Amino acid sequence: MTSDEARALDRHDTLAPFRDRFVVDQPGLIYLNGNSLGRLPKATAERMREVVEQEWGCDLIRGWNRSWYEAAVRIGEKVAQLVGAAPGQVILSDSTSVNLFKLVLAALELRPDRNRIVSDTLNFPSDLYVLQSCVRLLGGRHHIHLVPSEDDISISLEALHDEIDEQTALVTLSHVAFKTGFCHDAAAITERAHEVGALVLWDLSHSVGVVPTELDRWGADMAVGCTYKYLCGGPGAPAFLYVRRELQERVLSPVWGWFGQQAPFEFDLTYQPAEGIRRFLVGTSPILSLLALEPALDLVLEAGVQAIRAKSVRLTSMLVDLMDEVLVPLGFALGSPRDPDRRGSHVSILHPEAYRINRALIEEMNVLADFREPNLLRFGLAPVYTSFTDVWQAVDCIRQVVETGHYRSYSPQRQPVT
Ligand SMILES: Cc1ncc(COP(=O)(O)O)c(C=O)c1O
Repeated sequence: MTSDEARALDRHDTLAPFRDRFVVDQPGLIYLNGNSLGRLPKATAERMREVVEQEWGCDLIRGWNRSWYEAAVRIGEKVAQLVGAAPGQVILSDSTSVNLFKLVLAALELRPDRNRIVSDTLNFPSDLYVLQSCVRLLGGRHHIHLVPSEDDISISLEALHDEIDEQTALVTLSHVAFKTGFCHDAAAITERAHEVGALVLWDLSHSVGVVPTELDRWGADMAVGCTYKYLCGGPGAPAFLYVRRELQERVLSPVWGWFGQQAPFEFDLTYQPAEGIRRFLVGTSPILSLLALEPALDLVLEAGVQAIRAKSVRLTSMLVDLMDEVLVPLGFALGSPRDPDRRGSHVSILHPEAYRINRALIEEMNVLADFREPNLLRFGLAPVYTSFTDVWQAVDCIRQVVETGHYRSYSPQRQPVT
């Protein structure tokens, strides 16, 4: 493919106008970190000025009754539309790790006679740490079974099915794996888990807003996810959690805080869980971050997840094709699934010098991508602002950095954040 062909794809791209709705101030910057931190929507900058100056500055404490108190639920309903959840099942609260902790303990309490937790080795480490802490808190009675990846890219459905048995209390997985972009068959796994009476908790951090997710249709029990990646909520934006409606009155949060109380402002000295999903709130919502998320959600909803997914498949497929054509001869290999049905919106490529190549891309080429240990370059393609030309140019920059050997001038010593 040529750069002209990439430009032609952009001209015919129906999502291309959305790029202008983001702050894209630095000409020449190629931003491919959409799965780490989404770009800033212009509407968010405007809304933040209003929130800070008017709502915080003038409304002051009155803001709580005007709109803040209901924000975690109201904005949660917008996330619900993106994850295929009927109203009343999604709320915004805390970080993904903390929400996972709350839901894992709540789920294990529902299956007191079972002692197996099934996950996989491609899951995000924080998710596994949370599982380990839950096992410890419950006295070490549970065992975590991690299904290994045979090819370091994907997890076999059959291997996963074999691990899920009558002793399994909970299956918890990242729908799209953070390193390789592998996408699980969530409906099939949920069905298998339910056949043997296990509960299923999905981490949708790398799929929400970019891969259609159908929590209600899958029959998922619970889910969590980040909002600062493809949902562009901003650094540290509050995460979401989902609990299937039929389970809500049977589960309790392990952290009983006043925002999860039935009537927080009655200041009763004894905890009574709020009805429904609200019981998973803990303390005061981070209102500034919460309100910053809303314009971005509106934008994603307007673009439509189906259209976003269609472009995402084209972007990632183009990157895979260019990699085969241009980068394989330079010593790269694909670190993501080739089948677009099994791939999220990021693509990883492998090279023994990935760390130094990434340093050169940042410092010399104005290309921002991720390095992940030990040898992986990761490109998060966000269809609402990533263009086909971005992808073409990024591959061309990698080619230059490797062909010229410029990356060799960088130290292999890792910086604190890679
Ligand atoms: C799949 C996945 N789960 C969980 C997390 C952790 O999210 P948080 O920092 O909000 O706890 C991340 C962070 O990148 C992630 O990629």
